[in-house]
Amino acid sequence: MAKPLKAEFLDRLILIVGKDFVISDSDARKLYASDSTEDFVFMPDVVVKPDTVEEVSDIMKLCYEFDIPLTPRGAGTGLSGACLPVSGGLILSTERLNRILAIDEKNFQATVEPGVINEVFRNAVEAVGLLYPPDPASKGSCFLGGNIAHNSGGPKAVKYGVTRDYVLNLEVVLPTGEIIWTGADTLKNSTGYSLTHLMIGSEGTLGIVTKIVFRLLTKPTHDLLMLASFANAGNACAAVAEIFRTGVTPSALELMERKAVELSAFYLNETFDHKEGMEIYLLIEVDGFDPDLLMKDCEKISEALERFGVDDLLFMETFDQKEKIWKIRRAIGEKVKAHSIYKEEDTVVSRAYLPELLAGVKEIGSRYGFESICYGHAGDGNLHVNIIKGEMSDENWKGKHLEEGIREIFRLCKKLGGTISGEHGIGLVQKKYMNEVFEPMQIDLMRKIKAVFDPKGLLNPGKIFP
Ligand code: LAC
Ligand code: ZN
Repeated sequence: MAKPLKAEFLDRLILIVGKDFVISDSDARKLYASDSTEDFVFMPDVVVKPDTVEEVSDIMKLCYEFDIPLTPRGAGTGLSGACLPVSGGLILSTERLNRILAIDEKNFQATVEPGVINEVFRNAVEAVGLLYPPDPASKGSCFLGGNIAHNSGGPKAVKYGVTRDYVLNLEVVLPTGEIIWTGADTLKNSTGYSLTHLMIGSEGTLGIVTKIVFRLLTKPTHDLLMLASFANAGNACAAVAEIFRTGVTPSALELMERKAVELSAFYLNETFDHKEGMEIYLLIEVDGFDPDLLMKDCEKISEALERFGVDDLLFMETFDQKEKIWKIRRAIGEKVKAHSIYKEEDTVVSRAYLPELLAGVKEIGSRYGFESICYGHAGDGNLHVNIIKGEMSDENWKGKHLEEGIREIFRLCKKLGGTISGEHGIGLVQKKYMNEVFEPMQIDLMRKIKAVFDPKGLLNPGKIFP
């Protein structure tokens, strides 16, 4: 644990950012003690809200001088506990770094600060006919800096890729206070090691991103949305890979177990008409510029679904119908959490192995005595497994028993060629499982990279490494 902060340290923080932006009051600090991961609480000793890159740099230098652990924080919507100040010390909140600095319509690029909310950014670029595709479920509140920290995905990743695929260049403050740019504002770049890509997904352990240059696309003008219902979960999973074999790449291909839809609709106060016997749903979107072509794509998809025994296929005709089903889909994680104590796993395999993954999760659950509610990005083979505490004793829930069950799920992912996180990151909660997918050699390489950036190990300590 960190030592109590010295008065001189606090005085110098106030000199850097002003007293209104150094938060020592315990009620105010408590707002920064948790994120969206389970029910963790780790109190920071102080919260600081810089407004400029120079202030970030001065804060980093000061922490290095006084040996104070520093944890960067965006909106706190993360699901792996990466922004929790597990060693106390200082939280650096990026909430005031929330400016869209430029939208370059000629080059299809934008430069933003890390505290911009994903949806605020996407709306701003859509207003000029452009598209920023990565759309995590928390897009209404999560920050772009956090999206970079975790290489966030979301439903559109299946066609458009993840955050990594849209980052051209980053301004980063290193733990020792230097300010660097990682690359160039170009679509192509073969110039040395990619520091840009090293930063993306590093969960704020190597540096703090203070500016981001994104590339953008043209916004599609049309989309169509279908909901396919299956009585048999194996058929739904098997249909996923077949859809791509038609030559169509959907702009979303999401999977939702019946229970996930029920809970989300219930807590949202929305109605959802489950047909008798339906166990699992695929939500399939296509987008583009030509409505006739999109209709043909839907025909090809529905033929593929029929080959895999789809029981019901519903077109979402109106804007309101589409909004409602997307609202239910996006709220699943949050509403399962509202319903029960739970743990959220972020398994990912190649999409054709989805049937083995889902069946395996259920089989492991029945052996270990836990219920799982599954949903996620089927087209990417990225299955979110929400494990519900239910009847499980506190001892089993907190102890080695459940940990072993989760370990088995991750071993299955590894056996299928997959891994333990597709988009939520490792952070605090998954670090003990890193050795399921990496040999000591790879973990050692990562530790050495960390030490090059952060010789004192003060930036976001206690994360990623087992
Ligand atoms: C989702 C988040 C939890 O897909 O990743 O809803
Ligand atoms: Zn997700």
